[in-house]
Amino acid sequence: MKIKDLEFTQFISKSSIQRKVRLLADQLNLDYQDKTPVFLPILNGSFMFASDLLKEIKIPCRVSFVKLSSYVGTASSGQIKSLIGLEESLFNQHIVIVEDIIDTGLTLTRLVEGLKNLGAKSVEVVALLRKQPAREKEVSARYIGFEIENEFVLGYGLDYDGLGRNLKDIYQAKS
Ligand code: IMP
Repeated sequence: MKIKDLEFTQFISKSSIQRKVRLLADQLNLDYQDKTPVFLPILNGSFMFASDLLKEIKIPCRVSFVKLSSYVGTASSGQIKSLIGLEESLFNQHIVIVEDIIDTGLTLTRLVEGLKNLGAKSVEVVALLRKQPAREKEVSARYIGFEIENEFVLGYGLDYDGLGRNLKDIYQAKS
């Protein structure tokens, strides 16, 4: 499949994503059963993951959103833009950030800092994918779906210049 100048091949199928999402939700249902957490998906990339994950959450919870962006094309720009910011209502709450993919970890590090400053009771991260650079820097995320190499991926919410977010499966760019 070609998108703009890049050729993509299928990497993780819809059914293995769904299996993994259920496993992550099972663990969260256990760990947060008495905590009424606030799930905080980071837009845009995590909209599909968050939607599937939250359908499997059986405990009382709230959902709020933040919108951040650090990517231009296929690389992190190193600067985070906050497009929808954090709300006061996150004060004194158990927060679970819902992230599509952790690459350099810059996005998460900034967000976790912001949440702690707001007075969150606890902050953990559930991420569908984690890339090699985040492992090297030991960016902490308690719940991880798939560990992948340093490759550019697309689909299931993840985009290439705005394209491909709607795809059900995850694809990988051919090098
Ligand atoms: P970080 O701040 O470098 O960890 O980048 C995290 C954000 O960059 C993610 O939430 C994604 O939106 C985006 N991103 C990172 N890697 C990829 C990729 O391979 N494909 C599409 N988007 C990506």
